[in-house]
Order: sequence, then structure tokens, then C-alpha cells
Amino acid sequence: MSENRVLIVKIDPEKCQGHARCHALATELFELDEFGNARVRGSGQIPPSLEDQAWIARANCPELAVEIVEQ
Ligand code: F3S
Repeated sequence: MSENRVLIVKIDPEKCQGHARCHALATELFELDEFGNARVRGSGQIPPSLEDQAWIARANCPELAVEIVEQ
């Protein structure tokens, strides 16, 4: 069984209002800038071990600013 999909997490800066739930739920994936808005750490590629946290963060952003795309 091989899984070749790569999941990338992104923050839409137009939607993010700094609720910081993403950061609280998945600190390894998100950091907050000086205004408290989120940005992804590094390339945004989600390691398998953090995939559940990424989906939880996406589900908990009230602005729907967290996007997960498959490449
Ligand atoms: Fe922004 Fe949503 Fe996170 S509003 S700080 S992306 S929880």
C-alpha cells in the first residue's frame, strides 16, 4: 500500500481574522504574525503525523480561512 498524495495547508489572508484556533490546535503547522493572524510554518506540507490536526484546525476556523489542498 503506498500513498503518494501530498497535502498542503494554506491560510487565506483575506479571510483570517486572528481567532488563533488553528495555532492552538496545530502549533506545529501554524504560527501567528505580529497582528495575531496565522501563517503556515515552512512550505505548508502536512506530514502524515499532523494530518488529523490539520483537518481539525480547518474545521475550527470560524472564518473558513484554513484550506487543505492535495497535490
Ligand atoms: Fe485565522 Fe482562522 Fe486561525 S481566523 S488565526 S486561520 S483560526
